[in-house]
This record gives sequence, C-alpha cells and structure tokens, in this order.
Amino acid sequence: MAPVKSLNSSVNQQLADAIASARPEADGVDPLLRRSDRADFQANGILALAKKAKANPRELATQVVSHIVTGEGPIKDVEVSGPGFLNITISDRAITETLAARAADGDRLGVPLKENPGVTVVDYAQPNVAKEMHVGHLRSAVIGDALRGMLDFTGERTIGRHHIGDWGTQFGMLIQYLFEHPGELAPAEDVDGEQAMSNLNRVYKASRAVFDADEEFKERARKRVVALQSGDKETLELWQQFVDESKVYFYSVFEKLDMVIRDEEIVGESAYNEGMPETARLLEEMGVAVRSEGALVVFFDEIRGKDDKPVPLIVQKADGGFGYAASDLTAIRNRVQDLHATTLLYVVDVRQSLHFKMVFETARRAGWLNDGVTAHNMGYGTVLGADGKPFKTREGETVRLEDLLDEAVQRAAEVVREKAQDLTEDEIQERAAQVGIGAVKYADLSTSPNRDYKFDLDQMVSLNGDTSVYLQYAYARIQSILRKAGETKPAAHPELALAPAERALGLHLDAFGDTVFEAAAEYAPHKLAAYLYQLASLYTSFYDKCPVLKAETPEQVENRLFLCDLTARTLHQGMALLGIRTPERL
Ligand code: ARG
Repeated sequence: MAPVKSLNSSVNQQLADAIASARPEADGVDPLLRRSDRADFQANGILALAKKAKANPRELATQVVSHIVTGEGPIKDVEVSGPGFLNITISDRAITETLAARAADGDRLGVPLKENPGVTVVDYAQPNVAKEMHVGHLRSAVIGDALRGMLDFTGERTIGRHHIGDWGTQFGMLIQYLFEHPGELAPAEDVDGEQAMSNLNRVYKASRAVFDADEEFKERARKRVVALQSGDKETLELWQQFVDESKVYFYSVFEKLDMVIRDEEIVGESAYNEGMPETARLLEEMGVAVRSEGALVVFFDEIRGKDDKPVPLIVQKADGGFGYAASDLTAIRNRVQDLHATTLLYVVDVRQSLHFKMVFETARRAGWLNDGVTAHNMGYGTVLGADGKPFKTREGETVRLEDLLDEAVQRAAEVVREKAQDLTEDEIQERAAQVGIGAVKYADLSTSPNRDYKFDLDQMVSLNGDTSVYLQYAYARIQSILRKAGETKPAAHPELALAPAERALGLHLDAFGDTVFEAAAEYAPHKLAAYLYQLASLYTSFYDKCPVLKAETPEQVENRLFLCDLTARTLHQGMALLGIRTPERL
C-alpha cells in the first residue's frame, strides 16, 4: 500500500514554505488554497497575512512568489492576481503521475490512513421490538452505515451499537397475553420476516384489545412488568420470543436494504439492565442526581420548559423503574470504559436531541465523559411526503418501510427494463434491487442530514440530475468502454499534454481522499455524495469533448482509458462507502 499525497496538499505545503521564507514570522499561516475556475488553484491566505503585517498585499504576494520554484514540483506557473491572490497552474505531468500512483494502489486509491485513529462507537439502526419499522429508522440505518463506511476508510475503528427498544412496561401486556395464549407466536425459526411482523402485529392488536377491555387483565399485565424486571425465568423466556421474532423481521428489512447488521452489535436497552441500579447509585452519591418527589433526577440551569420550570432528566422513576435515560447513561459507561471509545456518535432523530443533551451533560458531570471523549448526536431531520408534510400513507398512517423499499425497487425495474437491451428478467430484477435501494439511500445521503427531505420516488429513480442512477449509469458506461477497448489496456502517459476536460477530471479524481477525510470528520455524507456527482458530471464533459477509443495516438487512447478506469474505480469506491452498489452493466 502506497499512500499518495494529493496535489492540493503538496501545493499547500510549497506555498506555506514560500510564505515562511518571505516572512519568517508568518510560519504556519494557512495559504487557504482552493480549486478555482481561473487557474487550477487559488490561494487567498496572503490577504489576511498582509492585513496583519500592515503590508501591501500585492507586494507581499510578489515576494512570496519569488520563493516558489516552478517547473520542478507540481507547480507549473504561479501568478499574482486581483488584490493579492495567487493563481496556480499544475503541470500536466504532475497530474498524470499523481493519478498513476493512485491507480497503482488498489482499492485505497492512494488514500492514506489516519495517523492516530480513535474508536468511534456508532449508535444507529435501532428499531423497536414488536414494532413495525418506519422511515425514521430508515434514515438512522442509511446514515449510520455510510458514516461507518467513511470512517473505517480513514482508518478510524468503528464499533456498531444497535440500541434497539427491547425493554419497558409495554412488554407486560404482550407477555401476559402470550402467557395466556401459548402458541400464538410461531417459533422464530419457522417464519420469514414478513410472517414474523404479521404475527407480532396480530399479537399486539389482540393483547391491546384485551388490555383495553379487561381491567383484570390490565392488572395481570402490570404484575408481569414486575416479574420481567425482577428477572422471572418464565417471563424472560416469553420476552425472548418477542425479541427473536422481531430480529427475524429486522434482519429481513436490513437485507432488503442491502446492509450488513452483525448480531453481536445488536445490544439493546435490556443489555444495560444490570448496570442501571449502579448508574443511579453513583449519580446519587456524587450528587449529580437528586431525589425529587420520589424520583431520581438531574437538573440543568439552562434547560427550562414552557413555564420556565427546569426540565429534569429522570434517571429513576418514583416507582423504582428505570427508563430510557438510565439505559443510555449505562451504555455510555460501557462504551467508554469497556469499549474504550474516543467518540460516541448517535445517529438519532433530531427530535431526541434534548434527551441527548441532558444525557451527555449528566455523563460529563459524573466524569464518565471526559476530555478524551467526544459525544455527538447526529440528529437527522424528518422524511417528508410530496406535500411537504411528514411522510404518511393516504390514510394518514405511517408508511411501512418494506412497502416503501419494494416500491422503490419496482420503479427501478421500470427504468432498468426500458434501458435494458439484452438482459434476462432475473438480471433486470437483480439490477432493479441495486438501483432502487441505491436510489433510496442516495436521496437520503445527498441532503445534509440535519435537513428534512422529500421522499419522491419519481425524482429518486430519475436518470437526470443528482441521483444514484445517474452515477450508476456513468459507472456502467465506463465499464462498457473498457470492454470495448478489448486488448488495449489503460495506461498512464505522463508525457502527454492534457485537454482542459482531462485536467478538470484529473484534478477532481485526485481530491477523492481529501474529500472522504473531510466528509468523515464532519459527519457529512452529503459532501461525499456531492463529490461523486461532480465526478460523474466532469466525466460526462470529458467524454463529450475527448474521444477515447478514437483518440489521435495509441498513447492517447491508453491514457484516456486510464482516466476512464480511475474514474470508474473512484465512483465504485465512493459509492461503496455510502453503501450503494455499482452494477457492471445497466
Ligand atoms: N429505539 C429508539 C427509537 O426508535 C432509538 C434509539 C436511539 N439510541 C439510543 N441510544 N437512545 O426511537
């Protein structure tokens, strides 16, 4: 594995050195290098420096330029422009040589690994036992999976935690019903995902009906909660049946989503039961939590409700029961102390952000979160329907996630079928799944996660515009060119002069690693998506302007095939990090 320094960082380094030579006191100043339309790069850092040094910016810029050696490194030409910008042109040779080094580095494409990787525990894809999954769970799963892909690629170690809702008073009713109607829930090993969920729904409805109509059942259900909490064996066995049946369902949805979920990373609320009393005891002993009307709570000066009354975080209810906050606090202790996390990342609906704010602050006061650990709630926005209101069925019900995914695949099949020339029906279905699920994921990932977005299938599977289908087609088209090239193989020829469209494509290809690092550090998958979309667009203009197989010389054919190949590999890798497939043919 040979990491490659990006042209951006080489040039940045060269400029920083030149600035330091011109003005020794300015050592460490950021040259503020950006891609630019006028030249390849523009550096704006000298303006601020001149202001601080009370110097004439153009003069200072000229001085800096005199310390830049051109023609040896990547910089071919540098010019002072405007009030004191530097316009920088990269040599064609440097572009091709850098890309050739990337191409020689397999899947990593020359992207280095982080020097000091940490451990990020990613809390994502957390559905609830005995409940249908909805679009909110889709977002958490899709965003969480993409963040893990990007972070892992930078060398960070990620550990997944699926904090599923598998505990609480709602299980009393369900378990009591199952106790009184044994055999109502088919064994988990005998059902598929759909049957599992329909069994769970049936049991839920039936138990709810009895619960609402029969006071005595209600009382028995309440006693069942106590039995569950005190670890009664028979009760736990029945509870386990609900969990197992639900897992069959979860796994089927995640499979449909083309997402790998590992059993050992499904660590739900119930996993923290044993630690919760200790969490409460420690918080009380430290004085972080106090008793208030029988409950154990934490107050925050700055968090107040409507009537200006402080809103507390409830660690333990007056009846002794523990809830959501207690399991999250106990999970933090486990993740920091046992998993040695340096970052805790929660991919959870923004509507839970107050909960996390209070949980994090409590953990800080208790010392469970210290300076060595960052906690972040990546609160995502709501999925909206075409009408701009939270996504619902026409009847106003929550949309079942599987139905939504099935519909996306069906729409994709129409698109694939229309374009397909020589595909069998099986091939169409296989590609439709990759295109449809990719479309759903991409639509989610290409908007900034904290914003709401409209779930619009027509737009998602469109071939035009910023969609995954557009990117997948770009990839498949390149594969077809590479096939057509037959015996002629891609090869870099650094001695060749490059056309403007080749330069633009090449410089963008070189920025892949820097983009992944930036997007991962900011938890911003949409930045990677935007990069890939631009890559496909730059490829399209290159393809329009620069004949590949009909280029003028054999060297030029090989060099252009080389650009095609590297574009395809970069698209493939970038999409893979986002969890999206790139079929070889479409
Ligand atoms: N199961 C919860 C829900 O469906 C999300 C859990 C989020 N994670 C956590 N550590 N609280 O809303």
